[in-house]
Amino acid sequence: VDTDGTRVFSLDAQAGSTEFEPGEPSNTWGFNGSYLGPTIVAKRGEHVRVDLTNSLDEPTTVHWHGMHLPAEMDGGPHQMVEPGASWSPEWDIDQQAATLWYHPHPHGDTEDHVARGLAGMFLVQDDAEAVLDLPREYGVDDVPVIVQDAGFSAEGEQEGRGHGFAGALGDELIVNGTRGPFLDVDDELVRLRLLNASTARSYAFGWSDGRPIELIATDGGLLEASVELDRVLLSPGERAEVLVRMVPGERIVLQSKMTPEIAGMQSMIAASNGGTDSFDVLELRAADTLDPAPAVPERLNTIPPVDETAVTTTRTFDLNGFEINDDEMEMGRIDETVTVDTTERWIVTNTSSMPHSFHVHDVQFRIASIDGAAPPPELAGWKDTFFAQPETEFELILRFEDYADPDTPYMYHCHLLWHEDQGMMGQFAVV
Ligand code: C2O
Ligand code: CU
Ligand code: CU
Repeated sequence: VDTDGTRVFSLDAQAGSTEFEPGEPSNTWGFNGSYLGPTIVAKRGEHVRVDLTNSLDEPTTVHWHGMHLPAEMDGGPHQMVEPGASWSPEWDIDQQAATLWYHPHPHGDTEDHVARGLAGMFLVQDDAEAVLDLPREYGVDDVPVIVQDAGFSAEGEQEGRGHGFAGALGDELIVNGTRGPFLDVDDELVRLRLLNASTARSYAFGWSDGRPIELIATDGGLLEASVELDRVLLSPGERAEVLVRMVPGERIVLQSKMTPEIAGMQSMIAASNGGTDSFDVLELRAADTLDPAPAVPERLNTIPPVDETAVTTTRTFDLNGFEINDDEMEMGRIDETVTVDTTERWIVTNTSSMPHSFHVHDVQFRIASIDGAAPPPELAGWKDTFFAQPETEFELILRFEDYADPDTPYMYHCHLLWHEDQGMMGQFAVV
């Protein structure tokens, strides 16, 4: 904490080497270390500053994914940090408790920089969440689970990944930078904060013994109430908080079982784009005695109904090929100009046969409808990224409260990072 009360964090993007298998070093990048970065935790109402140093030998940026903040502080492709240079964005944390994350956003190189290991979690806390009876002891019963796919040689050295339409796909998972991870559990109730930090792969998370997976929060914070699902689907960039109640001595595995149906892919496309792949993600090993936990609160949050009457502008976004509205990203072109303090409707349609995802900077939005129907409970809360199945239309309601800046745009894009790098991205300014 600075003398003026600012919470200060330091990140140093650096090259290093990581032994995913003992004795087999791979060249990787990380923040303040050789792979991934520290979890940043800040509270609503705090003023934060991040002192970022770029110790890499190429330019990068750091973007605060899911954060509501001024465009100049957003860390998109307009806030490049040259090798050896630093950048110190600061802003007020002004949003509800949520699991956010940070990652590079250099135009054309985002897939590469994230795949090398530059990513970390950014947890926002608030007073409303703090009084709920939920697990929140970091690393003990409240655990970050950063899921990435990778390729390894027979010896265990990280190597190239195969490429489909979706982008580069690895045939193994690394979780929090670890191959074959497990977690020893001493508490009956465990909260996992799942982040899909993969560049192209989507996951359908569920439990090995078939018990339902209990979802309590999506990208922008807690749902109104927990929902039990067979699978939690996360495309790249999305987060989910889930709870699991353990029985003493048991071992269960968080798995991902993607199917062409879940992915919305034709079987030919699915086979080469991760649409048929299964993985063990994380094994939980319960101790023989567990600290008891109370029942999960019935009401977790208040989420106002989607207010369509406030909409003043409707825009349409057509996802096709590597383009949005038949255009590729142009650094010097602002595609959409939004008036500050207004509410908009964005109709996002994937008109292609490939899945995409859609992410909007600056705001947490609501999905009002999917192909004209109300969204399922897992998509009814606050979102900043969603999986856009082929031939599907999503109606979003977004409120652009503040931070007008005619000169600096925010981004919207496909979060399959290879697609983003190819130009499947556009820019909007709030004025
Ligand atoms: Cu997670 Cu524009 O990014
Ligand atoms: Cu973002
Ligand atoms: Cu895409």
